[in-house]
Amino acid sequence: MIETFKPEDIINIRKDFPIFNNFDKLNGKKLIYLDSAATSQKPSVVIDALHSFYSKSNANVHRGIYTLSEEATIKYEEAHKKVAGFINAKSFREIVFVRNTTEAINLVAYSWGRKNIGKGDVIILSQMEHHSNIVPWQLLAREKGAVIKYTEIDDKGKLRIDKLENHLKEKVKLVAITQMSNVLGTINPVKEITSMAHKAGATVLIDGAQGVPHEPTDVQDIGCDFYAFSGHKMLGPTGIGVLYGKKELLNDMPPFLGGGDMIKSVSFEEARWNDLPWKFEAGTPAIAEGIALGSAIDYLKSLGMAKVKNYEKELAIYAMDKLRDVDSIEIYGPPAGERGGIISFNLKDVHPHDVASVLSSENIAIRAGHHCAQPLHDRLGVTASSRASFYIYNTIDEIDALVNGLKKARKIYG
Ligand code: ALA
Repeated sequence: MIETFKPEDIINIRKDFPIFNNFDKLNGKKLIYLDSAATSQKPSVVIDALHSFYSKSNANVHRGIYTLSEEATIKYEEAHKKVAGFINAKSFREIVFVRNTTEAINLVAYSWGRKNIGKGDVIILSQMEHHSNIVPWQLLAREKGAVIKYTEIDDKGKLRIDKLENHLKEKVKLVAITQMSNVLGTINPVKEITSMAHKAGATVLIDGAQGVPHEPTDVQDIGCDFYAFSGHKMLGPTGIGVLYGKKELLNDMPPFLGGGDMIKSVSFEEARWNDLPWKFEAGTPAIAEGIALGSAIDYLKSLGMAKVKNYEKELAIYAMDKLRDVDSIEIYGPPAGERGGIISFNLKDVHPHDVASVLSSENIAIRAGHHCAQPLHDRLGVTASSRASFYIYNTIDEIDALVNGLKKARKIYG
């Protein structure tokens, strides 16, 4: 039997999210939040963790020889251990807290990239990458004279593994690829890709921004060298994200930022680096946010990630079916059942911003634009799209409301 949530489970889950009680009236209409790929809503346990840290435990970490600071340090380090457990890293030393996925990828590009990428080296990305997994590599390639190759997608929005194989015959140093496209909902076979890339001698980075919030994640099973994700897309606060890196690689990399806490000792002439992961956490970190990310993980674990994955898949299947009732809609990405809870589409001759405005008048929140994936939109032959994205608190009824809202937009714009 497939593990999933029942309607009564979702009613209970929704009660854990104050926003659905506090912002449920716009012209008497309930909030329908379909923009979790941009950022998720937050359960009370996460909001309470922030409040509780600042009210009861606030002090800096790794600095004070007094009880409050020692307790803050223990909580902050425990949060690293929770993250390590959640993605099955070997050790918390492989878990670097950063601000978000973008910073995690920039860290790798700056530190690992500058040391390991040279003239003529090939970096393989894909046509479905978010700007965060393109621009840092463009900056690096420009500086080092490296070459970027984009693995093509097919017309269903799936990665062309045959094309990847061809690119891997070149002088490849890095393969950086998303686990799930933030536009198409395509789920990439990251374990298979990692194994292919390793056979070709390349290092592998997975952009897990849309991965770890939505499915069970095991970095050792995937085998990747780096895995980047954000706290705020998985029920945690903004300002906290994670870079997982294999210990040998992190040890071998120079620091990204210099400053407090990332050193063992400093003289006027030189400095020695701290142990992992602190070597990469310069300055006072996002302590409360890191601890609250730990609470988000506890919450997701209590729900069960297999259920989260299956429930979102069911929502996507239902939505793909219902959206076909809307006249002249074009949906991008793989067929129902082969995608995560992200659906991007266009209504013929209606600008996505107009679609989003009509839906907003119904208190339905979607994202409209290029979703930080302009090259992908070029590949799709459009400048922008509308995007609905789902999470554990969304319901079938909300998808029906989305479809009705789109029918309304269709009527208004002819
Ligand atoms: N990366 C986020 C999105 O896709 C902001 O919406």
